[in-house]
Amino acid sequence: MKICCIGAGYVGGPTMSIMANKCKDIQITVVDLDEKKIAAWNSNELPVFEPELLEKVQKARGRNLFFSTDIDKELMEADIIFISVNTPTKTYGVGAGKASDLTYVENCARRIGEVARKAKIIVEKSTIPVRTAESIRKIFLANGYGDRFQVLSNPEFLAEGTAVKDLEEPDRVLIGGEESEEGRKAVEVLAGIYEQWVPGGKILKTNLWSAELSKLAANAFLAQRISSINAISALCEVTGADVGEVARVIGMDSRIGSKFLNASVGFGGSCFQKDILNLVYLCEYYGVYEVAKYWEQVLLMNEYQRERFSGKIVSSLFDTITGKRIAVYGFAFKKDTNDTRGSSAISVCKHLLEEKAHLAIYDPKVSLQQINKDLEIEEEKIIYCKNAYEAADGAHAVIILTEWDEFKGLDFKKIYKSMLKPAFIFDGRRILNHENLVKIGFEVYSIGRGKKSRY
Ligand code: UDX
Ligand code: ADP
Repeated sequence: MKICCIGAGYVGGPTMSIMANKCKDIQITVVDLDEKKIAAWNSNELPVFEPELLEKVQKARGRNLFFSTDIDKELMEADIIFISVNTPTKTYGVGAGKASDLTYVENCARRIGEVARKAKIIVEKSTIPVRTAESIRKIFLANGYGDRFQVLSNPEFLAEGTAVKDLEEPDRVLIGGEESEEGRKAVEVLAGIYEQWVPGGKILKTNLWSAELSKLAANAFLAQRISSINAISALCEVTGADVGEVARVIGMDSRIGSKFLNASVGFGGSCFQKDILNLVYLCEYYGVYEVAKYWEQVLLMNEYQRERFSGKIVSSLFDTITGKRIAVYGFAFKKDTNDTRGSSAISVCKHLLEEKAHLAIYDPKVSLQQINKDLEIEEEKIIYCKNAYEAADGAHAVIILTEWDEFKGLDFKKIYKSMLKPAFIFDGRRILNHENLVKIGFEVYSIGRGKKSRY
């Protein structure tokens, strides 16, 4: 069997690499328009940083895993085609700022219709709004490709930074298909592939709509948990409660559960915001406005948390940060990834730049080029640092925006010595030992704990 996956990004690349490792009898080719990206997948400098991914790619590459730009050839020969292209939020026209831009998905559908000869099963893997499968089907039908294809929805639940584990041992695999004999057959074919490494009981089969909506709902619930604990964190700071303690207490209720209760400077990533916007758009489209407003609040709370954090930095530094050096630790949207999409670091840094701060940014995996692109600035507007010590040298404040493990092990005495006084630390991830920092002499502000200092 041959599989072709269109899109060699954060979803397509890792997903197909694990599938190739688990199903040695299937030949898998990941194709992309982006030649540089494909070249990187064929090298040892993968375009996606994920723990353990390089080893997995190296094991399968050249055996039953291939990366190519020859899209038409692969589409022509494939038995199953996965669509794993980007679906950013629309920036123009109807649904701007909310609906997903389906241009890339539509282009794929048209190309598949024109070129694919063997394939009968098309799997949508990209994060997409509800009813995309139907749109793809309509494109096939309207162009006379008839009923040749079965479209399945197989949303990906991997989280970046833990993609390999999430793919190897998923909580569940979801496959949605049409409620017809042909649809059910197609679902079984795809389920058969996953069954090579996922226990049958974890493979859920639903109709197309349920599969598509479940993905949006799952992400909305996760994001809502973060906004809920972040809302409590704001209250903790003014009342003297500690959000860590509150989270531990509520998390021990088995109905609530302890995961995903870390208050932070706000959630980022390519999915949460986009999926909630999609949900909101869907609600508005179908006229359930109260439901739309309910979910929108999760995003408003996230934005509030970011603004609150950057506002705290300005007010603590005596209401002005003009010309002040501020060391920014972390730019990725979470640890163990080089992905910056939707990162809270982008909003916080933009705000600090508006206040004319000098930002000295250090992230173990994010490039200067990416930071400039995200902040929409020219070269040389920020100071890009090789390590955390260099960033802190001569700074008024250190701010933690990503929870990279290496930040926990830093020599904060050394950092303190190299900074201007009073030296401030703003912990947007709650990863440092605040009592120790106060002993060293720092003025510490932490999300969900407020201010701690010797004075
Ligand atoms: C998410 C979903 O977890 C995944 O199932 C889906 O397929 C894609 O979207 P991802 O965005 O890669 O995955 O990472 P995730 O671990 O969910 O983190 C998202 C954001 O929330 C990050 O910015 C993270 O730092 C933040 N977060 C997470 C918190 O602020 N607190 C928490 O307790 C957990
Ligand atoms: P995700 O996080 O969903 O994987 P990415 O942006 O990381 O999103 O990856 C999507 C990939 O899809 C990009 O590398 C992009 O070049 C590729 N892509 C988009 N449209 C097409 C297309 N029509 N044919 C082939 N590749 C495409």
